[in-house]
Amino acid sequence: MYWTLVDEYITDRLIPFDASLEQVQKTNKQAGIPDINVSPTQGKLLYLLTKLKGARNVLEIGTLGGYSSIWMAQALPETGKIYTLEFNPAYAKVAKQNIREAGYENNVEVIVGKALDTLPKLKEKKLVFDLIFIDADKENYPHYLNWALKLSNPGTLIIADNVIRNGEIFNETSTDERVKGIQQFMDLLVNNPDIDSTAIQTVGAKGYDGFMMGIVK
Ligand code: SAH
Ligand code: DHB
Ligand code: MG
Repeated sequence: MYWTLVDEYITDRLIPFDASLEQVQKTNKQAGIPDINVSPTQGKLLYLLTKLKGARNVLEIGTLGGYSSIWMAQALPETGKIYTLEFNPAYAKVAKQNIREAGYENNVEVIVGKALDTLPKLKEKKLVFDLIFIDADKENYPHYLNWALKLSNPGTLIIADNVIRNGEIFNETSTDERVKGIQQFMDLLVNNPDIDSTAIQTVGAKGYDGFMMGIVK
């Protein structure tokens, strides 16, 4: 696919080889973790946005093997912290190993459980985040947006992956619960007084998809 070749072209030129991130991809493959992490170019975008924001406290919903977590961890100050939420204990175990081997054990905390059960605990701890990356089960994206807003300050950057799904978002008669979740998520953003947002379509190694990005008012 042309998109993948161009992504490789960009990766070869703009994304320096990083032994930790290569190792994460190898370990995930060996552990049988599905290849649904962000691509290197997307990981680099998350890294750049984390830097641009000067984020110190990051929340990620959907850890998988920790690939995107490690990209963002690389952009944090020494004392920065990522809380990353993962439902699957086997994935969380691999993620913890990857995070330790990459040297971010003190910066990244993997919280195991359904995000809708663990998000309230973050609120109870009165945590607030500078950047929130939503990338878990698409059915719950509307709930994740509401939680993200509750765990934000004015200026918090909220990013969501997979909001285009090969253009399926445009299919009003879709019966796919994941697509319906994303559609409800997008509907919540319409004239939302709490967030100023856009969505960007992307093509590349991960096919045709896109990100939502917004700043909390
Ligand atoms: N952000 C990762 C990819 C995440 S894939 C990366 O780019 O490297 C989506 C992840 O969300 C999967 O690991 C899946 O197990 C997890 N997930 C699915 N449902 C969830 C839920 N209810 N709560 C928390 N995590 C969930
Ligand atoms: C899936 C999840 C993702 O976060 C992604 O980027 C691609 C696919 C999935 O659940 O199929
Ligand atoms: Mg994703």
